[in-house]
Amino acid sequence: MPKRDFLSISDFDADELTELLRLAARMKRGKYDRKPLKGRTLGMIFTKSSTRTRVSFEVGATQLGGHALFLSSRDIQLGRGEPIKDTARVLSRYLDMIMIRTFDHADVEELARYASVPVINGLTDLSHPCQILADLLTVKESLGGWKGRTVAWIGDGNNMAHSWIEAAAVLGFALRLACPAGYEPDRALLEQYRTAGDITLSHDPAEAARGADVINTDVWASMGQEAEQAEREQAFRGYIVDDRLMALAARDAIFLHCLPAHRGEEVAESVIEGPRSRVWDEAENRLHVQKALMAMLAGMAGEKEEAA
Ligand code: CP
Ligand code: NVA
Repeated sequence: MPKRDFLSISDFDADELTELLRLAARMKRGKYDRKPLKGRTLGMIFTKSSTRTRVSFEVGATQLGGHALFLSSRDIQLGRGEPIKDTARVLSRYLDMIMIRTFDHADVEELARYASVPVINGLTDLSHPCQILADLLTVKESLGGWKGRTVAWIGDGNNMAHSWIEAAAVLGFALRLACPAGYEPDRALLEQYRTAGDITLSHDPAEAARGADVINTDVWASMGQEAEQAEREQAFRGYIVDDRLMALAARDAIFLHCLPAHRGEEVAESVIEGPRSRVWDEAENRLHVQKALMAMLAGMAGEKEEAA
């Protein structure tokens, strides 16, 4: 199996992302019956909680003919201090692919450097590329594509925002970020990609939402930031995606949220449960895009034209 990792959206170019999403759509239509993971095992290391990522990867591996192993850091020696580089080399002797969700992105990079099998980032403090793949598929299904479209990011300049920034730069759509002062995306990452795309940053949710085709938000305190909840509730006041904000968006605008959501904080109940919300399709699409990703990384996605 050729070694290829997926740690960030920008690990794939525009053609590869397009191919992946086309394959995911084909899998979703039930038009894919290959078993590229037959006899293969995906290891899933988690040092943070998960509902969607864990279940969709496990189900996806099964549907592709393989097996998935849930490896909680509480139970493996990694959690007791065994070095990542040792874990990477040992696990590579058993597994065919590794997915990891953890805090420090550098740990995932180190895992990928020492692993001889493909490594997938299932979320770090820096980025959440698998979620953005699902979001892009949802945008494609709902709006026909992202060409000429504007995505608004309302809220924390967090891992999700970072992966949207990379997607906007690689795929070339407009991204309007509105983040409270002090909670902007990583400055170096933003500067790296800003010039490649049409990406703007403000402190005004209304400015970002006006005319946007996709309104996207996330929790105010991500995993690992629970102690900052009260302080963040103050800083993020006015950043709720409610009907008033949605009214500023384009007429056919959709609402996305990676979930889990906090109703009454970053999103109003009426929006997440409303007609423009696509959050359940978005959650389902995690399964399809990750199956396509695993098939591609396994090097058995089929010929390019078959992905159409
Ligand atoms: N959106 C997402 O990654 O969900 P989980 O934390 O449940 O995996
Ligand atoms: N930004 C959130 C995303 C959860 C899927 C977090 O990191 O907790």
